[in-house]
Order: sequence, then structure tokens, then C-alpha cells
Amino acid sequence: MTAHRAEFPEKLEFLFHPARYKCLYGGRGGAKSWGVARALLIQAAASPLRILCAREFQNSIVESVHHLLQSQISSLKLDSFYEIQNATIKGANGSEFVFAGLRNNVTKIKSFEGIDRVWVEEAQTVSKSSWDTLIPTIRKDGSEIWLTYNPELETDETHQRFVVKPQPDSVVVKINWDDNPWFPETLRKEKDSLKERDPDAYQNVWQGNCRVTLDGAIYAKELRQAQEEGRIRNVPYDSTKQVHTFFDLGWADNTSIWFAQTIGGEFRLIDFYTNSQQSIQHYVAVLQNRGYIYGTDYLPHDARARSLATGRSVEEIMTSVGRKVQIVPNLSVFDGINAARTVFNRCYFDEQKCSEGLQSLRRYRYDVDPDSKQFSGRPLHDFHSHAADAFRYFAVAIEEDKPASSARGIRMGGWRA
Ligand SMILES: Nc1ncnc2c1ncn2[C@@H]1O[C@H](COP(=O)(O)OP(=O)(O)O)[C@@H](O)[C@H]1O
Ligand SMILES: [Mg+2]
Repeated sequence: MTAHRAEFPEKLEFLFHPARYKCLYGGRGGAKSWGVARALLIQAAASPLRILCAREFQNSIVESVHHLLQSQISSLKLDSFYEIQNATIKGANGSEFVFAGLRNNVTKIKSFEGIDRVWVEEAQTVSKSSWDTLIPTIRKDGSEIWLTYNPELETDETHQRFVVKPQPDSVVVKINWDDNPWFPETLRKEKDSLKERDPDAYQNVWQGNCRVTLDGAIYAKELRQAQEEGRIRNVPYDSTKQVHTFFDLGWADNTSIWFAQTIGGEFRLIDFYTNSQQSIQHYVAVLQNRGYIYGTDYLPHDARARSLATGRSVEEIMTSVGRKVQIVPNLSVFDGINAARTVFNRCYFDEQKCSEGLQSLRRYRYDVDPDSKQFSGRPLHDFHSHAADAFRYFAVAIEEDKPASSARGIRMGGWRA
């Protein structure tokens, strides 16, 4: 089966030669998505392939590349070869495209067998834990992992893993609008206009260069300082000291947990966990499986609320299984952020285990006021704000337990290890 008018930008030639990883990144309009969609459709028409199209977040098929593949099938005149179904696309030779979100979907991802190609679109948002689940699942001989993305922060897991420190047997190609022979006029206008208005944003959106920080990032300065001072690194668990945990609770929203030890005036963030739509028992099991020796689990105020279904509160459930629980004082978000800024310069983060928490802290930012178009004083509530909320509780709980000036160094309150 050969495709009609299969034209590619020269830079995408490499998609037709084997490599374990193929990484296409850059600014908008570089023909990344179209190029990959076409290459996969052509390869799957030439021989039977099982192709997983994945992204970090996919609540429905509408958010996937299903639609893009469908339109490319027609423009390649492969309509009679591919059968488009609601959740899959099937080729007459047995090829199949399947679609999935990676986040919190371990069981589904692990159930995929015999995958020849994975295409991870919008890969800049893929977390460390998602890569760690996905990659070992793709183990068929000759299988390949392709990713396309527009970079955001230099520190993002995907960018570090594939571009900054490239994997063996990988081809990494930066591709921008000026590599795309079919760069459309409408996009050119948008591009030129952004270049005028906001040269920094232009560098990121169209030139595909990483941003130093996100606009409105609340802890930009603190995180840059932590990075520069080498406080984001390997921070091992000290088994002679207790680990305290700091929760932000959610059901549809994420529950996020920081694990911290205090040692000689340093706050060591040794681990982080986040998930959603799990019972509190799940999180207790996660704590137990980590195998740390625990001190106090610090919970937010809503841990006192009784669940309608069980009639019990998170606080009660955790206490009943023998956890030592404390409710964090109810400070305003503003005061909580200040508390976080105060303790930040004593924080050390484990680069690997806290990767997701850090990724969210870097994205914790002020919301834009719809009227003034300026940043408001309110943080944006989004996927990333929960890790930052848990971090606020951490800061507030420590603040509370700071030694009084008269008794400096003697009273460490709940923080005595
Ligand atoms: N092979 C191609 N043939 C014709 N037009 C193309 C092709 N590849 C890309 N384009 C044009 O370039 C635009 C941008 O491509 P796209 O793949 O969406 O870029 P990116 O994913 O890099 O942002 C498309 O909307 C389409 O108009
Ligand atoms: Mg794209």
C-alpha cells in the first residue's frame, strides 16, 4: 500500500530510519504533528504495526490525535485502507492505532502489549512517573518511542531526559516554522505579531527555546536560587530521623504529599507523591510502602470534614490506623506563600523523587485577571496548584514549630526528630 503525495519536510527524513527514540521539538508550526501523523500512517500501511498514541492528560478521545490522523488519512488518500472507529483506527493489514492518557493510568498502560510505535504528543507535560511506567512497557523488538513537543522550562522532565541528556539510540531534532515548507500564512501573521508584542514569548512559542521561568511564577526566584545553590540534588533518606508528611487532599483534584526530614536546620524534601481518585487508604498504603520511619502526618483543615459516604473524616481514618496526625493552622493563601518564601532557602529537594513536585512548584503561578489582563494576587487553580498547596502546609507547619527566640535551638516542637 503506498500513500498519495506523501510529502515531508527534509528534516523529517529520519522518521523512516530505525531508532529507539525519535524526539521532535521546537516552536509552533514546524510540521511536527502533521509529519509524525503522516509518517506513522504510511509505515502502518506498509506493514502491520500496533501504534499507541499517548499524551499525559487525555480525558476523552477528542483530546487525542485521533482527529488529526483521520484528516491525514484523507489527504494521503488512504481512506479505503483505514477504518476509523470511535476509539481506534484500523488498517486493512491488521495495523492498529490506540489512544491513551498516561497520567495515573498505570494499569491500562501496562496492559498494552506488542506495541511497535508510541507517539507521545504534547510531551513537554509528561511526568517522570509516566515515562517510568511507559518506557519498560514498550519492549517489543524494534519498537520505537516518538515524541513531539513545544518546550516549556529547561528543567522539565521530558526536556532533560531527551534533549539535555539524550538517550542512547535516539535522534533529537529541533524543528521550527522555518523548516516547514508549507508554513501557512495565518500562522505567519500570528508569529510576526507576537514577535512585535512580546519578544520573550516569541522565543519560546515560535523559536522553540525554553523559558527561564513561566510568567507569573510564584516561586521563580526561590527555585532559581535553590538550583544555583545546589539544593536540588540527591537528598537521601536519613534512617536515623523521622519523616513528616504534608498533605493536600483532593478526589477529582490531585492529592499531593511531600515527605520531609529536618536535619540540622535544613528542611530536606526527600520524596513526593501525587495521584487522584484514590481512597485515603491508598495514600496510607503508599506511605507504608515507602518504608520510612514516620513522625507526623500534617493534614489540611478539610481533613476534619466527614465523608457523606463513610461518616468518617480523613483525620479519623488515619488516626485509627495508628498514624500520628496534626491539622495545619488555617492560614490565608497569601500568608502561606509568605511562609513558603521564608523557609525556601533552607529547603533541599531530591531531584529524582521530588521531580513531579518540583515541576508543579515551578508552574505555580498567579492567575490573570480577565478584565485587566494583569496578574491577580490569586494563584491559578490547576493541576499544579495542589503540590504547591501541600508545600504551603509544609511551610506553615514548620513556621509554627520554629523555636521561639528566647529558646532558640531548644524547642523544635513537632519537628524534633
Ligand atoms: N506535509 C505537509 N503538507 C502540507 N502542509 C503541511 C504539512 N506539514 C505541515 N503542514 C502545514 O503546517 C501547519 C503546521 O504543522 P503542524 O504539524 O501542526 O506543526 P507543529 O506540530 O510543529 O506545531 C499545518 O497546519 C499545515 O498547514
Ligand atoms: Mg503540534
